[in-house]
Amino acid sequence: MTTLWKERYSQRTQRMSRSVIRELLKLTTQPDVISFAGGLPAPELFPTEKCQEAACRVLQEHGAAALQYGPTEGFEPLRRFICDQMAEIGVKADPANIIITNGSQQALDLVGKILINPGDHILVEEPTYLGALQAWNAYQAEYVPVPCDDDGLRTDLLEAALRAGPKFMYVLPNFQNPGGTTLRLERRHELVRLSERYGVPIVEDDPYGALRYEGEHLSPLAALDAALHASAGLNGQGFVAGNVIYLGTLSKTLAPGLRLGWVLAPIEVVDRLVMAKQGADLHTGSFAQMVAYEVVRDGSLSEHIELIRRVYRERRDVMLAALEHYFPEGCSWTHPEGGLFLWARVPEWIDTSALLKDAVERRVAFVPGFAFYSDPSRGHNTMRLNFSNARPAEIEEGIRRLGDLLKKTIAKH
Ligand SMILES: Cc1ncc(COP(=O)(O)O)c(C=O)c1O
Repeated sequence: MTTLWKERYSQRTQRMSRSVIRELLKLTTQPDVISFAGGLPAPELFPTEKCQEAACRVLQEHGAAALQYGPTEGFEPLRRFICDQMAEIGVKADPANIIITNGSQQALDLVGKILINPGDHILVEEPTYLGALQAWNAYQAEYVPVPCDDDGLRTDLLEAALRAGPKFMYVLPNFQNPGGTTLRLERRHELVRLSERYGVPIVEDDPYGALRYEGEHLSPLAALDAALHASAGLNGQGFVAGNVIYLGTLSKTLAPGLRLGWVLAPIEVVDRLVMAKQGADLHTGSFAQMVAYEVVRDGSLSEHIELIRRVYRERRDVMLAALEHYFPEGCSWTHPEGGLFLWARVPEWIDTSALLKDAVERRVAFVPGFAFYSDPSRGHNTMRLNFSNARPAEIEEGIRRLGDLLKKTIAKH
C-alpha cells in the first residue's frame, strides 16, 4: 500500500509554513524587478578574491583538517577571533562561551530546541523577525507580542507581559528587522533589570550591530547583563552565569553564503546547544569556518565593514530622500540608524499584501508587514523595505514606482 504521507507528518509540522520572504524572493529574481523584499547584502561588496585566496591557502596548508569532521563547538581560532570581536563591543567571554552555528538562523532553531516545550510562550517584539517565528513555530511555541515604537521595544509594557510567564524574551536591539528601530540605552538597562527581577532570560539577536551609519554605539544587552553578574567573571573556562543568550553572524559583515553565525552564552547553555547541534548536523562546515578565519585573521574585517557602512549609508539616504519625494501624504516610515531595513506605514485601509501584486506588475517588490506579526491578522498596512541590495538609481526608481502605485490606489479610493 502506498504511504499516505499526510497521515504520517508530526504534529509540529502543522505549524510550519514556508517563509513569505523566501517565496517572494523567487518572484523577484527576474532581472527587471527592483526588489526591496529580501534582506540580501550588496553582492558587489563580497570579498570574493580574498575568499578565493583564503580557500586556496586553507586547502594547501590545512587541506586534511578543512575536509575532515571537526568539533561541534566550532573551529577554535574562529571562536577566539569572535571572542575578540565581542570584547570590542563590551562583551567579555572565553571561547568556551561560544558555539559556531550555520548562520544565526540555526542558532534560533537550536535555542528553540533546547528551551521551548509545546505551548510555551515567548515574549517577542511586535513586529519581529519572521525567521524566528518560523523556527519556533516548529516547536509549537505561542507568543506574547509587545509593541515597539521609534525607540524599540516598549519596556513600559513589559512587566504586564512578563507576568504572563514567558519562557524567554526575544529582542533585536540594533536596527531591528523589520522595523529598523534601535532600542534606546535606558530601555536596554530596564530590559536587563526586568529580566533579572523576573528570572526570564533574553535571546538577543544582533546581526546588524556592526552596521551603524549614525549615532553612538550602544552596549549590547549581553554587556549590560554581564555587569550584573560580574562575580561570575572569566577564569579561562568561560562565564557561568547570566540571563542573555547572544546571537551573532558573519552573514552581513562577510557573506551569508558561508552560513557562519555564533551563540555566546553561559557555559551550561552552550553545553546544551552542543548536544542539540550534534543531533542536527554534528558541526558547522570545517572548510567554511577555516576559510572565514583565513579571511579575517589579518584584522581587515573592520576595514571591510567600514566600506559596507559607507555604501549602505548612502543607499539608506537615497531611499529616505526618495520616500520623502515620491510617497503620498498619509504614509510614514522609520529612520534607521543602521542595518538593512526601514519600515513604512501606508493609510489604514490599504492592504499591502494586495498592493504587492500590483507592485510586482510594476516590477517592484517589498515584504508585506503582516509576515512579521505573530498574529498575521495585524500589520496589514505596513511594509518592510530593504535598502542594501539595490543600487542608488534603482532605489530611487523603485520608490518612484511604489509611490506612483500608492498615489493611484489612493486616488481610486
Ligand atoms: C534578525 C535576524 N536574525 C537572524 C537572521 C539569520 O541570519 P543568518 O542565518 O544568515 O546568520 C537574520 C537574517 O536576515 C535576521 O535578520
